[in-house]
Amino acid sequence: TKRVRVHHLREAKERGERLTMLTAYDAVTASIFDAAGIDMLLVGDSIGNTMHGYRTTLPVTVEEIIVAARAVAGAAQRAFVVADLPFGSYEAGPEQALATAVRVMKETGVSAVKFEGGKRVAAQVRALTEAGIPVVGHLGYTPQSENLLGGPRVQGRGDEAAERLSADAVALAEAGAVAVVLEMVPAPVAERITEILMIPTIGIGAGTAVDGQVLVWVDMAGMGDWSPRFAKRFGEVGAALKAAASAYADEVRSGSFPDADHQFDA
Ligand code: KIV
Ligand code: NA
Repeated sequence: TKRVRVHHLREAKERGERLTMLTAYDAVTASIFDAAGIDMLLVGDSIGNTMHGYRTTLPVTVEEIIVAARAVAGAAQRAFVVADLPFGSYEAGPEQALATAVRVMKETGVSAVKFEGGKRVAAQVRALTEAGIPVVGHLGYTPQSENLLGGPRVQGRGDEAAERLSADAVALAEAGAVAVVLEMVPAPVAERITEILMIPTIGIGAGTAVDGQVLVWVDMAGMGDWSPRFAKRFGEVGAALKAAASAYADEVRSGSFPDADHQFDA
């Protein structure tokens, strides 16, 4: 299996092949998704909500991302692995962003970093690109700004907002971004941005006229009771895991596990 490299992203767009991306936060799931042929694995700061039980992504630290990213990058044989820069680790300017990104690259083995924002972080995108670090942008609903945005809401509705979003996407591409995530963006706006940009757009709640899709894996797999509207449940893995745990507990309580096959002779 040939590893997915940065140039494959743009080549996929040119050929009209849709890119697949899922979040992953550990070696177990990373190797499963990698074996399933997922092109890109994102060590998202959604690790805060999904794995650590935080209410938002804001408390996530660089250290938490690094531990998870090292596990994912170590497990992935083929996928292009991207790590999120968490809230507070890049906004101050290119110097801060570069210091954080260099640390993440040195300590994890991921292939790229991602952070939120458009024009306001274009200088950061440029600095990292000049240092040889591929950057994935993230526009539309950006969870690190949820307090300012007023929670998860569609972004880029109306001509003026759509125009601002397009300008942000162009600014990221011009600064050197290798791809851009569009989250909760009206489908026609995402389509228009996808037409304008040479780099791939990766949608989440952004319709099908984008160059790829990303989902948070626990939403994709149906781990919890609730999934956002844009996140189709492609399995009921939470229910399957609960059934396995219940079956285990039943057999332990009844004494039928371990049986002869699962113990050692003298
Ligand atoms: O952290 C994350 O999971 C993300 C995706 C939703 C794009 O940024
Ligand atoms: Na994120």
